[in-house]
Amino acid sequence: MFSETFLRMIYLGCLLFLCGLTHAIPSYPIWWSLAVGHQYSSLGSQPILCGSIPGLVPKQLRFCRNYVEIMPSVAEGVKIGIQECQHQFRGRRWNCTTINDKAIFGPVLDKATRESAFVHAIASAGVAFAVTRSCAEGSATICGCDTRHKGPPGEGWKWGGCSEDVEFGSMVSREFADARENRPDARSAMNRHNNEAGRTSLNDNMFLKCKCHGLSGSCEVKTCWWSQPDFRVIGDYMKDKYDSASEMVVEKHKESRGWVETLRSKYNFFKPPTERDLVYYESSPNFCEPNPETGSFGTRDRTCNLTSHGIDGCDLLCCGRGHNTQTEKRKEKCHCIFHWCCYVSCQECVRVYDVHTCK
Ligand SMILES: *[C@@H]1O[C@H](CO)[C@@H](O)[C@H](O)[C@H]1NC(C)=O
Ligand SMILES: *[C@@H]1O[C@H](CO)[C@@H](O)[C@H](O)[C@H]1NC(C)=O
Repeated sequence: MFSETFLRMIYLGCLLFLCGLTHAIPSYPIWWSLAVGHQYSSLGSQPILCGSIPGLVPKQLRFCRNYVEIMPSVAEGVKIGIQECQHQFRGRRWNCTTINDKAIFGPVLDKATRESAFVHAIASAGVAFAVTRSCAEGSATICGCDTRHKGPPGEGWKWGGCSEDVEFGSMVSREFADARENRPDARSAMNRHNNEAGRTSLNDNMFLKCKCHGLSGSCEVKTCWWSQPDFRVIGDYMKDKYDSASEMVVEKHKESRGWVETLRSKYNFFKPPTERDLVYYESSPNFCEPNPETGSFGTRDRTCNLTSHGIDGCDLLCCGRGHNTQTEKRKEKCHCIFHWCCYVSCQECVRVYDVHTCK
């Protein structure tokens, strides 16, 4: 009768509009798939079609259309961030694996964990870094070198070259990467904080790079400019921040616009986190066994280090399950001889290595 059709209508409406909404907003940005998707593998050689990037909110779509020339750098930035994540976590149980899918990390980033904090921070730093670099290389018309932070020249050097404009790169990262983080919930607050922590660490690590000019390398004239560090420096720095990340608790406040969630330090006896620190409020799974729900792949068959007592050591990485050992033959250059003048010749030797993998 009435009730059944009515209920079905409500259910359908719910599915399509209301209840679906909470699921339609995943806690990680789907547009990160720009960095891994096959369809974007020829970045730079083909124009980016903003409408075909998955998961953009309206503000991001507008940004993409207005500044389409810097979108390849945005995508490149996410890629740099993910590569650095994989380097920093290579010997850990969760090693920043991506799957070739829209949900590039799987469900791992659904929870508000340290791992989520790190990925957000390194990706937003990556975007700021790549945009800043490409601007300094002159590859876009709307940006270029930084002329605002020169100050007086120092002793024995003068300003020269192209100072990298990290403020512009950070602005792009803030406008684009944070565009979807305006919800009044705790996860949005966490993502905003960690995204900004990534950009702040980039800003903190800018340095004066100098070059000598003059006859045969004599340093008669020295010119200097602001430069971003190697991205590895940012990765190492953020990894320290991951190790010392601050655990938070969620608080609800009633404000004029409704309920708003904010984060507060869980432990009052620790210093509250600064804008450079990473924050999280849910504990991580242990990543020992495969679990499709948490996105853990488990550590079976992972290569472990027999002599290390750290997390990459066989005890910890294999979660106490033990390990298998196989020998592997590798060809290497050996007995190299320097011939006058000027080349080196080598022989090829086969060396045998023990390779340990988790049971
Ligand atoms: C990362 O972990 C996955 C899943 O366990 C594994 O397949 C992959 O080889 C690992 N990558 C590295 C670099 O160890
Ligand atoms: C294994 O761990 C030891 C001790 O931490 C380290 O010196 C060594 O370089 C590691 N080996 C590899 C292959 O990573």
